Amino acid sequence: MEKGSFISRILVLSLAISPVFSQYYSKTEPYTPQPEKITNLHFFFHDTLSGKDPSAVLVARANITDDDDSPTPFSSVIALDDPLTLGPDLNSGVIGNAQGLYVSSGKDIPSLVAFFDFGFTQGEFNGSSISVFSRNPILENERELAVVGGRGKFRMARGVAQLKTFFLNVTNGDVIVEYNVTVIHY
Ligand SMILES: *[C@@H]1O[C@H](CO)[C@@H](O)[C@H](O)[C@H]1NC(C)=O
Ligand SMILES: *[C@@H]1O[C@H](CO)[C@@H](O)[C@H](O)[C@H]1NC(C)=O
Ligand SMILES: *[C@@H]1O[C@H](CO)[C@@H](O)[C@H](O)[C@H]1NC(C)=O
Ligand SMILES: *[C@@H]1O[C@H](CO)[C@@H](O)[C@H](O)[C@H]1NC(C)=O
Repeated sequence: MEKGSFISRILVLSLAISPVFSQYYSKTEPYTPQPEKITNLHFFFHDTLSGKDPSAVLVARANITDDDDSPTPFSSVIALDDPLTLGPDLNSGVIGNAQGLYVSSGKDIPSLVAFFDFGFTQGEFNGSSISVFSRNPILENERELAVVGGRGKFRMARGVAQLKTFFLNVTNGDVIVEYNVTVIHY
């Protein structure tokens, strides 16, 4: 084969392929909304900081708070893998877990910012999860968190989680929280 035609064939081939790689975005087109569904979820969240097998652990805190002996002084970063159960009792049946972080972010009034992924392991939503990114004013017995997205059956989710503290140990920070979540999703 002649050298020139070989090179021009490569050129033709690469020209044919190159449009795929020439830009990182598609043409912007009008969005056609898909029918959405609404699902309500109800479960209990167990955040255990105490004992030999905690589900939530302190990762770091600023040393400026050394004289603060609350379980989560301002600046604390806590990583968690908390079980979610059907009822308030840990033995009532685990239906998933919340993984993520919270940051103690209230300087004057104790408050957290939650970065949680609630993943489900039972039933219809096994393998799906919802993402929560929100402030969490823990001193209020009833509060709400924003649901900002989801995976699996909860694709494109948005919604709100209503929380009620069911049990709190102010000494060690262990808490059980009741969640009612309303999610709009695909
Ligand atoms: C905190 O850490 C900084 C940097 O190591 C140090 O200079 C400071 O004295 C520490 N403060 C306290 C209250 O321990
Ligand atoms: C949940 O999904 C996982 C992964 O597909 C599977 O192994 C497991 O058996 C499922 N559990 C239930 C209770 O359906
Ligand atoms: C969740 O909804 C149920 C039924 O409406 C209600 O009894 C319960 O108090 C609610 N809990 C929260 C945390 O909103
Ligand atoms: C609260 O935590 C303290 C310290 O870990 C412990 O001594 C106490 O028994 C706990 N109280 C309850 C009701 O769990």
